[in-house]
Amino acid sequence: MREAQPRPKRILLGVTGGVAAYKAAELTRLFVKAGYDVQVAMSEAATRFVTPATFQALSGRAVFTDLWDNRIDNHMAHIDLPRGADLILVAPATADFMFKIAHGAADDLLSTLCSARDCPLLVAPAMNRQMWENPPNLRNVAQLEQDGVIVLGPDQGEQACGETGFGRMLEPEALFEYVEAFFQPKYLQGSRVLITAGPTFERIDAVRGITNSSSGKMGFAIARAALEAGAEVTVIAGPTALATPAGVKRIDVESSKDMLAAVNAEVAKIDIFVSVAAVADYYVLNPSAQKIKKDAHILTLELAPNPDILANVAGLAAPPFCVGFAAESENLLEYAEQKRRRKKLPLLVANQVQSAIGADDNEVWLLDDQGQHKLPRAPKQEIARTIVRHAAKLYREYQS
Ligand code: PMT
Repeated sequence: MREAQPRPKRILLGVTGGVAAYKAAELTRLFVKAGYDVQVAMSEAATRFVTPATFQALSGRAVFTDLWDNRIDNHMAHIDLPRGADLILVAPATADFMFKIAHGAADDLLSTLCSARDCPLLVAPAMNRQMWENPPNLRNVAQLEQDGVIVLGPDQGEQACGETGFGRMLEPEALFEYVEAFFQPKYLQGSRVLITAGPTFERIDAVRGITNSSSGKMGFAIARAALEAGAEVTVIAGPTALATPAGVKRIDVESSKDMLAAVNAEVAKIDIFVSVAAVADYYVLNPSAQKIKKDAHILTLELAPNPDILANVAGLAAPPFCVGFAAESENLLEYAEQKRRRKKLPLLVANQVQSAIGADDNEVWLLDDQGQHKLPRAPKQEIARTIVRHAAKLYREYQS
């Protein structure tokens, strides 16, 4: 299932002169850690905030600041640097830099190499809120968007100048995630995907309940991977503190009955359903509205089976393309294949419960009509991308 590794994507990271330049150092670190090849180019003003040595140490490459740099034999840094880049990201991008690009200026290294590029240009503005709202600046932003430049942010919040409003650069993690998504193939463009994630919580009384140790990480990783693949994504999440990936619609639920109701409300709008949640198989028949007082007696709970959400969806007259999960502690492939057949699923992801639940990485088997394919242990995000790619392939076949 694993494909030959392509060459690392090459990012040309432009840094212009704003306080947020220090965050570009963290962004460089994130890119390098994820295996990107990063070339940094800085404006002269950016070097007043952070030295080129910082970026050189983090990227492992010489940093360029000058059109006339002697290290490039033909003195054509503005042509040499963008050549081979898969994208240029300028973060932070000052108002002055955006003015230059919007007007085709080419009077320093960064503006010139942006003019000479043949790859996408992304900018992450960072400036004081009044500078951001200044009408000429907003006109420049509109012009950039019209020219196909992707403007990321800005965010709102407290600014280095002490004011509060729009103009903060997006955090390095958000920019990193955007770039990761940008490079993913759009297998699911135009499709709508619904995912259940995390545990459910079945109330015993006002404070206690029955739950399990699902963290929601696998479900949220699938959500992010589906979003990256171009889908419109909704997650129905049991109790989990995980942050929602930007761009994903989230519906929080508590019990499996809430989850069933939320799925039923969404199911007519979707093309693909991925059921990752560890749904409680039983609920408490008569939960107490008050806290049950402790006494010396044995407490007996009456449990009744919950409806199977996935089986309900897969059994609809016109079901969406359904992907199930199965976490087993023994006879993994045998039990998982039985579940796949019983629930009539075109694809089921099987994992060993002890090493999957709560963990940051996973090892899974994809079970479909063609057989079983193993995905070796890897971070859940990487596993999720492969699952989404495989599901998208089967979904296209299922449609035709
Ligand atoms: O959240 P993490 O910590 O990242 O852990 C991820 C995970 C281990 C929970 C996940 O990878 C996983 O395996 N999820 C399925 C858990 C499971 O064992 O489900 P099951 O065998 O009880 O159910 C099989 C399938 O039916 C699942 O797709 C489940 O979502 C669905 N189901 C089950 C019961 C029910 N009442 N309704 C359902 O929809």
